[in-house]
Amino acid sequence: MRLSLLGGTGDIGKGLALRFAADTDHDVIIGSRDPDKAHSAAESYEQTLAEHGHEAKITGFENPMAADRADCVVLAVPPYHVTDTLSSVVSRLSDDAVIITPAAGLTRDEDGFHYRPPSAGSVTTLVADAAPESNPVVGAFHNLAAGRLADLSLELGIDTLVLGDDRNATEMICTLIEEIDGLRALKAGPLANAAEVESLTPLLINIAQQNDGLHDLGVQFKWAQNRFCNSSRISSRVSPLFTHSTKRW
Ligand SMILES: NC(=O)c1ccc[n+]([C@@H]2O[C@H](COP(=O)([O-])OP(=O)(O)OC[C@H]3O[C@@H](n4cnc5c(N)ncnc54)[C@H](OP(=O)(O)O)[C@@H]3O)[C@@H](O)[C@H]2O)c1
Repeated sequence: MRLSLLGGTGDIGKGLALRFAADTDHDVIIGSRDPDKAHSAAESYEQTLAEHGHEAKITGFENPMAADRADCVVLAVPPYHVTDTLSSVVSRLSDDAVIITPAAGLTRDEDGFHYRPPSAGSVTTLVADAAPESNPVVGAFHNLAAGRLADLSLELGIDTLVLGDDRNATEMICTLIEEIDGLRALKAGPLANAAEVESLTPLLINIAQQNDGLHDLGVQFKWAQNRFCNSSRISSRVSPLFTHSTKRW
């Protein structure tokens, strides 16, 4: 599979590029507005991978060239630039290429980070509205910490929530995600549910900033047996439990 990371020179693009290149056989392509920057980033990621014992080939191109013939295109750019980045590559997209968006609309004030979705309801739906009809949009990676992905010495042990209206595309992206060691894909419903997923991102950043040792916070959803039930039988009443993984955000 050809996996193109537009804005792959940035934080989440780097983390995803390193993990996909380390753990899968897919072609990883870095996109940038500047082809030289894309090329240098690709070289430096290859160097990092080599230092961790992975021989991987990563290539770098200007965004439209990076998107050319890609099976999946990740819009790894700031939320305010998802639509212009998508427009810049749309003529090069294969008909059925899946567009993945990890962006969450955030704002920051003296109290911390807050969720600020665009008028479309979420950045994910904004991308879906702008995407060609033939290209399914899938939301994923919103709540991952780039620093944790990029540190290949760390085990992940975290979940990412996946949103999509196209069942086949959503399943395909879940399968792709789970090729990364320690990353579990959990379906969170159609794109209409994206605001709930995106709004977790400022919550995680605020928790990471307010608590020592919780940098690079991620989430892992677990089923916990209800403690108040008879311990001699497994209860069907279960509660979701957030756990955290530490390191810098
Ligand atoms: N950082 C995280 O931990 C994290 C986690 C989950 C989700 N996300 C989401 O992932 C997306 C990228 O986050 P990030 O932290 O990787 O961002 P970033 O490092 O600030 O930027 C990523 C890349 O976007 C490109 N870019 C910057 N300004 C642009 C513009 N005006 N037009 C088009 N491209 C532009 C740049 O690439 P070139 O200069 O090479 O073109 C840059 O390297 C965001 O939407 C964020 O919400 C981030």
